[in-house]
Amino acid sequence: MKKKLLALFLGATMAVSMMAAPVMAEEATEAATEATTEAAAEEAAADTAAAIDMEGVDVENATIGISIYQFSDNFMTLYRTELVRYLTEELGFKEENITVQDGKNDQAEQTNQINNFITAGVDVMILNLVQASSAPQVTDMCNEAGIPVVYINRQPDEAESDRWAEEGIKATYVGADARQSGTFQGEEILETSTGGDINGDGKVSYIMVQGDPENIDAQYRTEYSVKALTDAGVEVEELLLQRGDWDQARGQQIVQDALTQFGDQVEVVFCNNDAMALGALQAIQAAGRTVNEDIYLVGVDALSEAVQSIIDGNYTGTVFNDHFSQAQTAAAMAVSFLKGEDVEPVNMVDYVKVTADNAAEILEMIQ
Ligand code: GAL
Repeated sequence: MKKKLLALFLGATMAVSMMAAPVMAEEATEAATEATTEAAAEEAAADTAAAIDMEGVDVENATIGISIYQFSDNFMTLYRTELVRYLTEELGFKEENITVQDGKNDQAEQTNQINNFITAGVDVMILNLVQASSAPQVTDMCNEAGIPVVYINRQPDEAESDRWAEEGIKATYVGADARQSGTFQGEEILETSTGGDINGDGKVSYIMVQGDPENIDAQYRTEYSVKALTDAGVEVEELLLQRGDWDQARGQQIVQDALTQFGDQVEVVFCNNDAMALGALQAIQAAGRTVNEDIYLVGVDALSEAVQSIIDGNYTGTVFNDHFSQAQTAAAMAVSFLKGEDVEPVNMVDYVKVTADNAAEILEMIQ
C-alpha cells in the first residue's frame, strides 16, 4: 500500500512546472484526492520505481558521494534514509560504494567533503548544499573533474540552473516548489471555521517562525502562506517574524516569547517546517492555549509526530514534503547521469496538503 501510493506521487513528479505555483496547488490537491481513491492509478504508478532502466549501469562498482547539509535535521534524516534505501534495496547499488557525509551546517566542511569525493573519483554526487549560493563554485569543481552532480532540497538560483542547460553541464536539481507549500499553509488557515480570525476583529494576526532565511524554502513559505490570505481578500497583521533555522528548540523559544509578549492577540502561528511547529506546540500548550480553539498552528513536512497531532486535534495542518518521491527522483537522475544521458535542469515534486480530512491516510503512508 505504502509503496504504491509513494510511487504515485513520484509519477506526478515530472509534470510540474516551476512557473505555475497557484495552479499547481489545486492540481496537487486533486492529485492527492485521486491518489487515495483510484486503485488503478496506484497500480500503474507502483511500477514507476521498477521502470527505472538500469541497463548499462555498473551497479556492482558504481560509486556515489552524498553530502547532507546537516544530519541533525529531522526532515533531511527521513530523506537521507529513503535515498540510501532506494539506491541499495531498489536499484541494487552496493552499500559500500555509497558514502554519506554530514555537512555539519558548515559550507567549508562540506566543500572539503566534495573535494574528497573528487579525489576518490566517485562516479556521481548527490548534494544537499549547506549554502545554495555555493552551487556555481561546486558545480565548476565537479564539472572540471567530469563528475555529474544532483543537487537536492536547497535550490540553486535560476541563473545557475540555466547555465547548466546552456553549457551542457552535467548538473541538475531535484526539489519541491516551496511556493506551493506556503500557499497550502495559507489555505489551511482559510479553511478553518473562522478563516483565521478567531477574535472577529476583521484581521488575522499571526507570528511567522522562519527557517534559515538564506534558503528559498524559508523565503517562499513565509511569503506565500500570507499571500494566500491576502489574495483571498483577508486583512493580515504580522506581530512577529523570527528565524528559527528549522529547529524545534528554537521554534519553542520563539513562540514562548511571542505568546508572553502578544498573548491573545496571536491567532495564527505559521512555521516554515514541522520541527519548529512541534516546538511551537509545546510553547502553546505550556501557555494554556488550545490549538483549533483559540489559536491555529501550521507547519510543513508531515513529520509523523505532526500528523499524529493533527489527528489528536492539536495541530491545524501541515504539508507533506514528499521525501520519498524527492529521494527516488534524485536517484533516478543519478542513474541517468551514470548512463550518460542528459536530464532536465530542474525537477519538481508536488507537495500535498495535510489536514484532519486526510491525516490518518497520510500517517499510514509515511510510517
Ligand atoms: C525543507 C524542510 C525543512 C528542512 C529544510 C532543509 O524543505 O521543510 O524541514 O529540512 O528543507 O533545507
